[in-house]
Amino acid sequence: MTGQLEQLGLTEEQIAFYRENGFVQVDNVLTADEIAELTCYIEEAMAEKGALAFQNSEGESRSSYYRVLNQKVNTWRDHAGMARYTTHPKLAQIALRLSGADGIRLFHDHALWKMPQDSKPTPWHQDFVYWPMHELGKTALSAWIPLDDVDESNGCMMFIPGSHEAGMLPGISLSDPQDIFEYVQGTDLDKKKPVMVPLRKGSCTFHNGLTFHYAHANRTDNPRRVLAIIYFPDGTTYNGKKHVITDPCEFQAGEPIQGGLFPLLASNQRA
Ligand code: SIN
Ligand code: NI
Repeated sequence: MTGQLEQLGLTEEQIAFYRENGFVQVDNVLTADEIAELTCYIEEAMAEKGALAFQNSEGESRSSYYRVLNQKVNTWRDHAGMARYTTHPKLAQIALRLSGADGIRLFHDHALWKMPQDSKPTPWHQDFVYWPMHELGKTALSAWIPLDDVDESNGCMMFIPGSHEAGMLPGISLSDPQDIFEYVQGTDLDKKKPVMVPLRKGSCTFHNGLTFHYAHANRTDNPRRVLAIIYFPDGTTYNGKKHVITDPCEFQAGEPIQGGLFPLLASNQRA
């Protein structure tokens, strides 16, 4: 087990940190060459008018959502190079170990650009509430992989340690946000200090879908470019809620989310 973790550049301490805090930083997860190639592919994917990829920025370049995030979802379905990175075995293996699931499937990827100048912070929120998954999916998680060095000036992330223990709270509008801390007023979480995570490109964070997180506005002259990959435990069932990723599949509520559009990327059986 330790040998396998070493190959992933992961330690038992990082796994324990993730389980306790709901997020973890993993350094040097991709090489400089991989980051250069991925950056080229993701720029191509952002520029393509793909049939499948859904992009928030289209027709709403001045909208308040666009000022928070210019995003494109499921780049991997239209771009073979992106598919290599979104399904990257090392990233999926790390997600498997952190989550403790028996198998990990891909939910979707998204390119997350924070545009220069006019940008707004990504407000404090949880992710899981947006995903159409029953509870087994509650260990679903995201890898957040910046393609540029990130710090407070261009949109690095902050996390509230232990906030994944709060359970699922109401969804937050990213463009017109409610204050998520109002839902945890008077609890220990209300007093917990956020942890800011500046990153060098090649490093990334993983966060649990229930962890409170935030990203600073981008005050620089260049876009802040991130690939985020969302994974969920194999066996997670659809909860019947409308969602841009699952709607075309016509799953019935209670059915497992599976099939070739949600590939099994890592599993203990195959390890
Ligand atoms: C961001 O990239 O600004 C936010 C990412 C997230 O909400 O997971
Ligand atoms: Ni989020």
